[in-house]
Amino acid sequence: MSEMDIKSEKKSDDDLEAELEEIESGEGDVKDLTIERLKEEIRLLKGRIKALEFNIEFEREAFERERRQAQEEIDSLKRERYLLRKQLDELLKPPLLLGEIMEILSEREVIVKSSTGQMFITSVYSKLDPRDISVGRRVAMDKNNLVIMRVLPPGKDPIVVAAEVIERPKETYADIGGLEEVIEEVKETVELPLLKPELFREIGIEPPKGVLLVGPPGTGKTLIAKAVANKTKATFIRLVGSELVQKFIGEGGRLVRELFQMAREKAPSIIFIDEIDAIGAKRMAMDTTGDREVQRTLMQLLAEMDGFKPLENVAIMAATNRMDILDEALLRPGRFDRIIRIELPDEEGRYQILKIHTRGMKLHKGVNLKSIAAATEGYSGADIRNLCTEAGMFAIREGKRRVTMDHFMKAKEKIDRKREEEESRRRIGDKGMYL
Ligand SMILES: Nc1ncnc2c1ncn2[C@@H]1O[C@H](COP(=O)(O)OP(=O)(O)OP(=O)(O)O)[C@@H](O)[C@H]1O
Ligand SMILES: [Mg+2]
Repeated sequence: MSEMDIKSEKKSDDDLEAELEEIESGEGDVKDLTIERLKEEIRLLKGRIKALEFNIEFEREAFERERRQAQEEIDSLKRERYLLRKQLDELLKPPLLLGEIMEILSEREVIVKSSTGQMFITSVYSKLDPRDISVGRRVAMDKNNLVIMRVLPPGKDPIVVAAEVIERPKETYADIGGLEEVIEEVKETVELPLLKPELFREIGIEPPKGVLLVGPPGTGKTLIAKAVANKTKATFIRLVGSELVQKFIGEGGRLVRELFQMAREKAPSIIFIDEIDAIGAKRMAMDTTGDREVQRTLMQLLAEMDGFKPLENVAIMAATNRMDILDEALLRPGRFDRIIRIELPDEEGRYQILKIHTRGMKLHKGVNLKSIAAATEGYSGADIRNLCTEAGMFAIREGKRRVTMDHFMKAKEKIDRKREEEESRRRIGDKGMYL
């Protein structure tokens, strides 16, 4: 057998492989191979390429799978980050507990005296600048874990934030329709004893200590108080019960005390507590700190009211639309001993209110306010204001330059629907009645 024969005879793939390696390393020579053998080698190489291609495809798929998994993980982390951010935002939002830094233990750990008087060792939220942390600073803490979330600007007493003091509201008596008698009574019982106490001393009577405005929602209670504040020469301090409860957890009692203190210092003053039902609701079985806190605020208020004599140059006025849920203690003599009721406006009242709220509107000459007043039985002042606004909206939607009677009628239909909805919601929501 010649050498040629040996190289051309059929060989196994393994032998072919070995031969290729020899050629690659320089030990063998391609020229020694027959065409047949070269074809064999090519077939082998093609097979190897196929296998490699298959491997690549397989790896690519595996890689793609991994990429998808990673992407899913990224997405879920993003979702988690979003939720955490939201939680963090929640935590940063009020209500927060107020406190004062008493001692600094380390950059992130301090002793705080909370507004309720308790002392805590607590930590400082990592995003806060440690330079802001110093003894005596007022801080806002998370209600649940007491972590310090915010350092409050120095010198800004919450009393100033809680009460609208001294700043005169722009509402005047001219903005109130009807209610002349109520306004007279408020002036007589609230303002007169403050500004002319000698009148009462001479006659020998004591003016009422507290005056409570009671009436359905939207009938002008807050409006009257604002008009009094605008006109009176006394210092006017307005605080809103619901805000006191929501914003100043743990501070309610102290705030009431400080406000009365301030009222005395700046006498003659009028303290007006709007929405007093938020702090003065009947005492019931209490199960949350919130409830207890509201109770403390109420107790402080009662104590303050008992604490001063009439003619001490401080008058107290409050408003509510839920007299039925007020704690009786508030209504005892020497507290809110004068109740002024505000009813829904009668036809004449509605006409007056309509005149006020259409003052700045361009009305078509066909608009008859008297007949609108006649057609709006049961409307409160706020309803009438809404009616005027809605009528204006209809005119704008139709591209009209003036508001017509038709616009008022459409507005009335809309408001009637809304009033019905509210009425039924109220009936389902609670058994509460307006007194
Ligand atoms: N007698 C009125 N004259 C003119 N506008 C009124 C009158 N009553 C209510 N309004 C309008 O309705 C708005 C709401 O009234 P206001 O806030 O005084 O009601 P309220 O009696 O305090 O109600 P709530 O019990 O819900 O606090 C006022 O800003 C005003 O635009
Ligand atoms: Mg009000």
